Amino acid sequence: MKQFTSVHDVSDPFQLVQEALALKAQPHAHTDLGRNKTVILVFFNPSLRTRLSTELAAKNLGCNVMTLNVADGWKLEFADGTVMNAGTAEHIREAAGVMSQYADILAVRSFPGLEDKEKDYADQIMRAFMEHATVPVVSLESAIRHPLQSLADWVTIEEYKRRKRPKVVLSWAPHPRALPQAVSNSFLEWMQQAPVDLVLTHPKGYELDPSFVGDTPVIYDQEEAFADAEFIYTKNWSAVYPYGQKPEVEKDWQITEAKMALTNKAFFMHCLPVRRNVVVSDGVIESPKSLVLPQAGNRLYAAQAVLKSLLENV
Ligand code: CP
Repeated sequence: MKQFTSVHDVSDPFQLVQEALALKAQPHAHTDLGRNKTVILVFFNPSLRTRLSTELAAKNLGCNVMTLNVADGWKLEFADGTVMNAGTAEHIREAAGVMSQYADILAVRSFPGLEDKEKDYADQIMRAFMEHATVPVVSLESAIRHPLQSLADWVTIEEYKRRKRPKVVLSWAPHPRALPQAVSNSFLEWMQQAPVDLVLTHPKGYELDPSFVGDTPVIYDQEEAFADAEFIYTKNWSAVYPYGQKPEVEKDWQITEAKMALTNKAFFMHCLPVRRNVVVSDGVIESPKSLVLPQAGNRLYAAQAVLKSLLENV
């Protein structure tokens, strides 16, 4: 693997899931791999899980780790040919070139603006790092994808599934703010390669980009979609058309005990952070079927599997 920005960078995603499970069994089996190697984590946006799990994953492999919060540094310019006489102080060409001299792997998190679909879906910040860094780039979540989250989700499903090919439902849920589509886009992309029967359910008006939905069946009735489900993966996202908006929804799409009772004793999953009693009821998230904590725990082994694979090639 030369970089990790989407499932398309991974030649065998199932093998990567198995690698993460092996690292979970023996997290300190490769502490020499990262000796004298440095991972730089660059955050344009906040994080709890991604930052801590990736730092620990790098340390478990013996790497040095440095983290840069971009808000504390120079404001970066991404457009080429700009006359930089306004707010931006440093061009990504120099910034990525400099960081590449200090790091063996560069990992980057940047959220979308949710104002201009074309701009966000061009994934400008991640692409600029991929273009101008001279070391492998890892996505810690971009404007349109969150592949480390999806890898951890697949690991969790692999651990908890009760039969070879479970039914997995990705369900929209309400949220007070307009949120990115990245987690849901990525989840679709990874689950389309997993041994699962995947169903997508959301209110009309919240259709995801067709390039991510692909052939995944869409059911607009949440309760119908939940029938026979063995995993309910919940996430809010804002509309793709009109981009970044929150069209009114008539029914209540919150994940409740009554809705979980319609499933085949399904597990509840969410990437966190989650708004309790808006996205999901206290009763569901605190039930024995809730996987939110093991799912977050698996972020460590997902990150470790990715960094290990990259370090084996640097
Ligand atoms: N799920 C996730 O990426 O969490 P953070 O935003 O806290 O990193």
